[in-house]
Amino acid sequence: MRLEQLTSAAVRDLQSRHTSAVEVGPLADGALHAVLLRDERLEGISSVVRSAFDSDLFGAPIFRVTHAAAVDAAAFELVHRLMLDGVRRAGARQLVRRIDAASFAELWTLQRLGFRIVDIGVTFRLAPSEQAPPDPPGGVEVGPATDRQIAQLLDTATSIFRTSHFYVDPFYPEEQANELHRRWLSNCHHGGLADVVLTSREGDVATGFVTCKVVAAAEGRRIGDIALVGVHRQHQGKRIGTALVAHALRWFASRCDDVHVRTQAINYGAVNLYEKCGFRLLASDITLSKGLEGDE
Ligand SMILES: CC(C)(COP(=O)(O)OP(=O)(O)OC[C@H]1O[C@@H](n2cnc3c(N)ncnc32)[C@H](O)[C@@H]1OP(=O)(O)O)[C@@H](O)C(=O)NCCC(=O)NCCS
Repeated sequence: MRLEQLTSAAVRDLQSRHTSAVEVGPLADGALHAVLLRDERLEGISSVVRSAFDSDLFGAPIFRVTHAAAVDAAAFELVHRLMLDGVRRAGARQLVRRIDAASFAELWTLQRLGFRIVDIGVTFRLAPSEQAPPDPPGGVEVGPATDRQIAQLLDTATSIFRTSHFYVDPFYPEEQANELHRRWLSNCHHGGLADVVLTSREGDVATGFVTCKVVAAAEGRRIGDIALVGVHRQHQGKRIGTALVAHALRWFASRCDDVHVRTQAINYGAVNLYEKCGFRLLASDITLSKGLEGDE
């Protein structure tokens, strides 16, 4: 079906052909599922959870679509409409959905439903066994973080991630977006969100950080993830970022088959840094959000 043919009438027609369009949940884990069935065949599903960390930090119920699939664009529209009704009733103020950039049917559906694009992401991959990690540039000292170094770097974390959707999306106040990045780095080091945080130093001054975590294996391959890498503004452009990533790759080399790192497509500095370190583009994604206050 072509997009312009997707009228409300088409959706009503689709709904009438389905034996049931049901909403399941919220379940014990807080998940809510909208399900579209025809003759007991699954034609669409949309699953949503409350983002506990974001909701607590921003003081508003924020929900995230974790999974959605449908047989065609009209089924996507119906299942997402059903899901929107469900999260509105659950008191959601903001709904976020990240999709693969090639999922045009869902993208256009979300736009028709009033979602706006807040982030275009790119994920890079490097396999240490296939490609030797770059040698760290000389003259930059890098090692596992100490509590003191992390304390020094918390302000840096609040000021450098400006391409993040938490700054782009007007729903999030800047001060709380700053706080989110501060806690993110702190939780990586103190809260076990990362396996290790490496920092760069110049004498007593911590100048940058990179977080390393081995995440679940996918298709028999162990995946490592770099969630955050940052260099204090005053120290950028001195190959510190290169040194941090090179050391992180050494840390990953004996633990992972693949290392992934995601950033925004508009973060040219980070994209160039990862390419320079040997990463190759793996995937592109689009994040959309919809504010639900006073919305129908
Ligand atoms: C991205 C970042 C970590 C790079 O650190 P850095 O120490 O400044 O980078 P380096 O000096 O090691 O530069 C390495 C390469 O990255 C690229 N690069 C770095 N900054 C760049 C910029 N502003 N524009 C374009 N390319 C840039 C270049 O290719 C550079 O190599 P070259 O100088 O030989 O051309 C740093 O700019 C930063 O902290 N940015 C804000 C936080 C962030 O966006 N983190 C990534 C997302 S999690």
